[in-house]
Amino acid sequence: MLTQAQLKQNVAQAAVEFTLPFLMPDVVLGVGTGSTVDLFIDALAPYRDRFRGAASSSERSSARMRQLGIEVFDLNQVEAMPLYVDGADEIDGGLSMIKGGGGALTREKIVSSVAQRFVCIVDESKQVQTLGHFPLPIEVIPMARESVTRRLRALGGEPVLREGFVTDNGCQILDVSGLTITDPAGLEAHLNNIPGVVCCGLFALAGADVVLVSGQAGVRQVERAAS
Ligand code: 5RP
Repeated sequence: MLTQAQLKQNVAQAAVEFTLPFLMPDVVLGVGTGSTVDLFIDALAPYRDRFRGAASSSERSSARMRQLGIEVFDLNQVEAMPLYVDGADEIDGGLSMIKGGGGALTREKIVSSVAQRFVCIVDESKQVQTLGHFPLPIEVIPMARESVTRRLRALGGEPVLREGFVTDNGCQILDVSGLTITDPAGLEAHLNNIPGVVCCGLFALAGADVVLVSGQAGVRQVERAAS
């Protein structure tokens, strides 16, 4: 029986194999944040001379890449990237995700928006029928924390401040449980519209394009159904 750590290692390796054909001297890759991505960065590092570098969704991933000799670019220097590779806290059958367990949701949404394809890398424990069991992270401007909290309670959620945590953008995170997310794209649009919300951890308006799912029988690749 493979442990979750081994499943993450396997999907990180599979993600590198998926990425290799895209590596060219002028290519900048988008790289996300989290324990699965840490393993992806480690497995990608031996190929650092095959591509230009990476744009990252967190100081944590940037530091890890620099340590391993992968050049990190400010996103403002990058016009296009073929792939953005990142994990998720939950992913449903329509490839909508909850992200932000590591608190990097806003930069994840920004960097992924520049990439042609979002490649989500998960172990099978992250697959769900309906999103919402994992508390939904919402990044807020500190002065709006209480007003946003009231709006989220009115929606039926139970927001809890992530104590002692400040995002790379100097903001705070509310982790919201109790939401039944039957319409992820609709809820994402609604939450994005609450004054003081910087970003919500729903990635549904633009979900994953490809998901690599690591299970006991190996790593499966699932593509977004053509619309
Ligand atoms: C960070 C994220 C991560 O992708 C998500 O939390 C999954 O992390 P891990 O790979 O450690 O399970 O969204 O903000």
